[in-house]
Amino acid sequence: MSEDKLWGGRFTQPTDKFVEEFTASIEFDKRLYHQDIRGSVAHARMLGRQGIIPQEDVDKIVNGLLDILQQIEAGQFDFSVGLEDIHMNIEARLSQKIGEAGKRLHTGRSRNDQVALDIRLYLRDEIVEVVAYLDMLVDALLNQAEANLDVVMPGFTHLQSAQPILFSHHLLAYVEMFKRDKGRMEDCCKRVNVMPLGAGALAGTTFPIDREYVAEHLDFPAVTRNSLDSVSDRDFALEFLAASSILMMHLSRFSEELILWSTSAFRFVELSDGFCTGSSIMPQKKNPDVPELVRGKTGRVYGNLMALLTVMKALPLAYNKDMQEDKEPLFDTIDTVKGSLKIFADMVKEMRVHAAVMAKAAGQGFSTATDVADYLVRKGLPFRDAHEAVGKAVAYCVENEMEITDLSLAEWQLFSPYFCDDIFAAITVEASVNARNVTGGTARNRVEAEIRRCREGK
Ligand code: ARG
Repeated sequence: MSEDKLWGGRFTQPTDKFVEEFTASIEFDKRLYHQDIRGSVAHARMLGRQGIIPQEDVDKIVNGLLDILQQIEAGQFDFSVGLEDIHMNIEARLSQKIGEAGKRLHTGRSRNDQVALDIRLYLRDEIVEVVAYLDMLVDALLNQAEANLDVVMPGFTHLQSAQPILFSHHLLAYVEMFKRDKGRMEDCCKRVNVMPLGAGALAGTTFPIDREYVAEHLDFPAVTRNSLDSVSDRDFALEFLAASSILMMHLSRFSEELILWSTSAFRFVELSDGFCTGSSIMPQKKNPDVPELVRGKTGRVYGNLMALLTVMKALPLAYNKDMQEDKEPLFDTIDTVKGSLKIFADMVKEMRVHAAVMAKAAGQGFSTATDVADYLVRKGLPFRDAHEAVGKAVAYCVENEMEITDLSLAEWQLFSPYFCDDIFAAITVEASVNARNVTGGTARNRVEAEIRRCREGK
């Protein structure tokens, strides 16, 4: 009973079997093995350097830990539920292997600061990967935007045809969102990247440790400044979950549009076969499973954020076992976000664009009515009066089942004497798009310049 538990000293009764399973985290925290070993190596070296443990013990510890690392990576490590978590699995094995020296490793340290360190090390690397996937997706979007610079499409508000835009302009809207997501990830990483070891259980340690040395060894630019906060702070993880939730919200909007655009009613784009599936009964079906699933997975990421916020809510300082519940939402989010970004980057790369279908739709639904109003304003009419006159022209077209581009000059003049025969050139889709020649507008030269700017990493 007590001899196999690293904390067994004050216990006389064995842990209930089910309690042992219920309280263990090894099934999910074993993915922190690399960070746990890295952190322990740094800690051991610091202990030796400070003369807190003998140098020959440090060598034994480091070699033993590296052996264990190899064993785990080769799939030859037996994880034990009885040893609760990754920290005690590794430490117990180390002592088994090297004896006395292994038992000195935990000097001046607690699992509370150890786990905080491991999560920070882990998340820091994962954020780098998330950012790399975001870059891949942005790159795929920029390639499509560049290749389709001549494609016009209807821009929507309320999902009603509003004004013609460049398809590339629409894609660049997502580029902006994903660039902000990247910024949020990088910003969050600054607060992840702080070294908590040395907080001990909660109050610090009585040994003359060198926290700065450990930080430098592990590539942390700073150490935490309050031991209680070091072991009880999970807001760095919450920030990651919040940034991930916003990122998934963006992906879910993009998903929704790809799903709509792939319908036979829209037919704006075609996703490649590899990203769709068929129906077992309806032979004509090609379902956009990938964007649907990403849209669906947004729910679990929001859920993970809510789960951890709720775990942390009202927890007294400092560490509480509740906090072991931080890992699964965090890991699940990392996997979901990375998977969703990767699959999206690949899908966008292979997406086919139906330029003619979009161009046709771009000219329908009175999409250039605003241009007619602007035309009248340039002729001298106040905007509100112009709006009124064009509204009447649109009503006339609806009545007569025409588009505004079908109106003759005589018909235009029914609504305002300001109309001349230059109206026809002013209301083509191309003219409408290129007239929006402002920073951030859809005019071709502006969109081209934005693609260039993004390519330069701005
Ligand atoms: N497995 C624990 C966790 O993930 C490690 C920290 C345990 N600390 C403790 N005092 N029980 O939170």
